[in-house]
Amino acid sequence: MSFSVSTLPGGMSADEFLRDYWQKKPLLIRQAFPGFESPLSADELAGLSLEQEVESRIVLEHGATPWELRRGPFAEDDYSSLPQQNWTLLVQAVDQFVPEVAELLAAFRFLPSWRVDDLMISFAAPGGSVGPHFDNYDVFLLQAEGHRRWKIGQMCDSDSPMLEHPDLRILAEFEQTEEWVLAPGDMLYLPPRLAHYGIAEDACMTWSVGFRAPSHAEVLTHFTDFLAQYLGDEQRYSDSDIHRPADPAQIDEQTVERLQQLILDAVQDREALGTWFGRFMTEPRYPELIQSEEIETGLLAGILDDGYGLERNPSARLAWRQEQDSYLMLFASGEHCLLPTRLLPLVQLICNQDYLAAEEMQPWRADVEAMELLEQLLSKGDLLFEANEDDEHE
Ligand code: SIN
Ligand code: CO
Repeated sequence: MSFSVSTLPGGMSADEFLRDYWQKKPLLIRQAFPGFESPLSADELAGLSLEQEVESRIVLEHGATPWELRRGPFAEDDYSSLPQQNWTLLVQAVDQFVPEVAELLAAFRFLPSWRVDDLMISFAAPGGSVGPHFDNYDVFLLQAEGHRRWKIGQMCDSDSPMLEHPDLRILAEFEQTEEWVLAPGDMLYLPPRLAHYGIAEDACMTWSVGFRAPSHAEVLTHFTDFLAQYLGDEQRYSDSDIHRPADPAQIDEQTVERLQQLILDAVQDREALGTWFGRFMTEPRYPELIQSEEIETGLLAGILDDGYGLERNPSARLAWRQEQDSYLMLFASGEHCLLPTRLLPLVQLICNQDYLAAEEMQPWRADVEAMELLEQLLSKGDLLFEANEDDEHE
């Protein structure tokens, strides 16, 4: 069973896209989603921005400052005081709150799912924009409603001049190379660090699928923090091979060599690296939305007997890795567990499907470790019992 997709929305082969465009150059896909209709209206998006647990912001051009940032959660009154033009509401991780929005992510299974960060949705009044900027991650920008003019510019880096602004990253210089107007269903892929500038032609909505890419600094600091937990205090810099120094004040090359060896020995542990990475990449954006709860013995079996399935918590992040042929590691929202290799087909279902039907779980019912795994994920809150109308299982 294949869980990935071989073509991009719009029909380009995934192989061609990955070879020629991914992390390399932009790609405009006209009618990637022909006849696309947003399952979420602008009013509903604004409604989400009133919620406490939802991360949202409004960027207003020519507000209190040339570029003003307002942070959510907002109140209804905040909207009545906005002008007719030149503002954008941006709501993060809408995929975690609206299942119909999360469905779009299935179209991106030509990439590892643990690379996906979130699906942000913006609504802009005519003229609205967040200014010319660059992001450090890849993004697919789907035009969901209305029209947006996208200008793309130069490749940037941390030395690119920025406007002085306490909160917004706006480029001081924008060297335009191309410009397109996107209509509903069109999608633009942008590689990291490419300057872009989107301006709403009319009231418009844009869906952005953003990706996670840890910085080298994060990889180094977080991995070494992870390793350090397993190092004893008695493991110290040692120099039993030392010779009498010519000058006691000198730090000589042998000293640096010993230190380098100490570091290389520690970071060479590939198994630890794989474990750390799986945990790190599955860390949830909003851990508070993954609530642990006690699962009574027999509850899972009873639910499956009644024909109800299990749902993935939309805030949970899941991935797996096989350690040679010996065992399987499941990563679930920043934690990991070791499993026997025979559970791989179940782990793949759990990681790749938003919903696990009772019938799909049937072959695993007699496997104690499989059932324990499901129970563990339910008690951690990564999986949820299928919601049912009369709430009899709550
Ligand atoms: C927007 O949707 O207005 C901004 C998206 C982006 O430029 O990354
Ligand atoms: Co951007």
